[in-house]
Amino acid sequence: MQGKRELQGEVAVQGSKNAALPIMAAALLHKGSTVLHNCPKISDVFVMEQILRQLGVVTHWEGHSLLLDCRQVCGYSIPASETEKMRASVLLAGSLLGRKKCVCMGYPGGCVIGHRPIDLHLEVFTRMGAYKDEDGKQLKITADSLQGIRYRFPKVSVGATENAVLAAVAGEGWTILENAAREPEVTALCSFLKKMGVRIENDGRGTLCILGGCLLSDVEFAIPPDRIVAGTFLLAGAAMRSRITLLQAPSRQLNSLLTLYKKMGGQYLVSGGTLETDSRGVRCALPLTETGVYPGFPTDLQPLLMAVCCTLQGESRIRENVFDNRFRVAEPLKKMGAKIKIRDTYAEIQGPAVLKGCRVKAMDLRAGAALVIAALYAEGETIIDSCEYIERGYETLYQDINLLGGRIRKENDSIDETETTGIFEKNQTETTGWSAKE
Ligand code: UD1
Repeated sequence: MQGKRELQGEVAVQGSKNAALPIMAAALLHKGSTVLHNCPKISDVFVMEQILRQLGVVTHWEGHSLLLDCRQVCGYSIPASETEKMRASVLLAGSLLGRKKCVCMGYPGGCVIGHRPIDLHLEVFTRMGAYKDEDGKQLKITADSLQGIRYRFPKVSVGATENAVLAAVAGEGWTILENAAREPEVTALCSFLKKMGVRIENDGRGTLCILGGCLLSDVEFAIPPDRIVAGTFLLAGAAMRSRITLLQAPSRQLNSLLTLYKKMGGQYLVSGGTLETDSRGVRCALPLTETGVYPGFPTDLQPLLMAVCCTLQGESRIRENVFDNRFRVAEPLKKMGAKIKIRDTYAEIQGPAVLKGCRVKAMDLRAGAALVIAALYAEGETIIDSCEYIERGYETLYQDINLLGGRIRKENDSIDETETTGIFEKNQTETTGWSAKE
C-alpha cells in the first residue's frame, strides 16, 4: 500500500456480515427456500455457505442474491475443521437443534480478540430442555423437545441472544428473553424471522418474545448495510482528512461513532441513505472512548479508532470493555511509529505520530482494517501480511480504496504496477476467485 495519497469520492456500503451469518443459519429452520439479497461476497459467508451445503442445503448465487434451498437437510454434524473457521458457526447449533433436535459440532473459532466462551449459549439450550455432551473437542446437543422459557441473560451477548432466538422458533410456546443484545444484527435476524412467519416481539430495549411452532414460509429478505464497514470508511476518511460519501449508509446505527467524529472535528450530513463526511477539520484527540454493547461504541471499530487516534493532536484514551485481548493491533502500529501505551483495559495514544510504512501483519479482521487505515496515513509503502483476515469481512475494500484515490494491491495478484487504477481493479476482480462462486 502506498500512503499519503488524497482520498475523495463515493463508496457503496456492502451488506452486513454479522447480519448475513445468523440469517443464513436461520434459513435452516424452514423446510423451504430463502433468498437473501444484498448478501456480501466475503469469505465468512462462503464458509457458512459451504457448511450449509454439507448439511444438504442447495445454494445458488445470482449477483449478490443467495438462494438457500433447505428442503432437504440430511445432516446434523459439522466437523471441527469447519466450525473452527469462524465464530458464527456456533449459530448453527440453535438452528440445527430447532430443525433436527440434534447437533454434533466442533467448537467455534473466530478472531483471537480475547476469551470467547459459549457458556451462555449452552445455558439457554439446557434450560429449554436440551442435553449437552462435551468432550473438549466435540459438542453434542440433543433434545426430545424444546420448551419455551423466560430467561434473563446475566451478560449481554450477541451470539447467545441469536442462538436463543433460533432455538425458540422451534420451541413450544413463548420464549421471553431479557437483557438480550440490542445490536442491529439481532434486530435484522428478528425482522427476517418475522417475515418468515414467526411471531416475534422486540421492544428495542432488550426484551424479545418469540412464539415457537409458527407456520414458516418461503421468504426473500435484503441484508441491511454493514455498519462496521461504513464506520471503516468514515474512519479512513478521518485519518486522511478527506471527504468521503457513503451510499447505503446505516447512519442511525452509527450514532456513537458520529458523536466521536464530531468531537474530532469532523462534519457530516445525512440525507436519505447517504452519509456525506467531511474530515478536513479533524484534529482533536479524544479524551476517553469506551467500547460497549449497542448503542455504545462498537468494539469492532475500536482497533480502527486507535489507528485514527495516532493522527490526532494530543492524547487519546480508549477503554475496551467487551473483549479482553483486543489491543493487539497496538504492536504493529507501534512498529509503524505510533506512540501507544497499553495499561490493563486502557490504551493511551499520543498523537500526532509520524507513521512510516513497513511490513506488518494483520492479526484479525478489524486489526487488519486498522492497519489499512494506518498505511493510508503513513509515509511510504506498507506491506500487510495475512490479509486473508481482511477478506473475511470486506468484499471490495482494496478496490474501493483505489477508487477513492488510494493505492493498494494484493501481492499475489498478477498485476502490472504500471497499469492504471481502472485496469488494476478489473484484474483483481478476475483473480480473486470470488466470482466463481456466483
Ligand atoms: C459478535 C460479533 C463480533 C462482535 C461481538 C460484540 C458476530 C459473528 N460477531 O460476536 O463481531 O465483536 O458480537 O459486539 O456477530 N460471552 C460470554 N459467554 C458467552 C458468550 C459471550 O461470556 O456464552 C462474552 C464474551 O466473552 C464477550 C462478550 O460476552 O466478552 C460479548 O460477546 P458476544 O456478544 O457473544 O460476541 P459474539 O457473538 O461472539
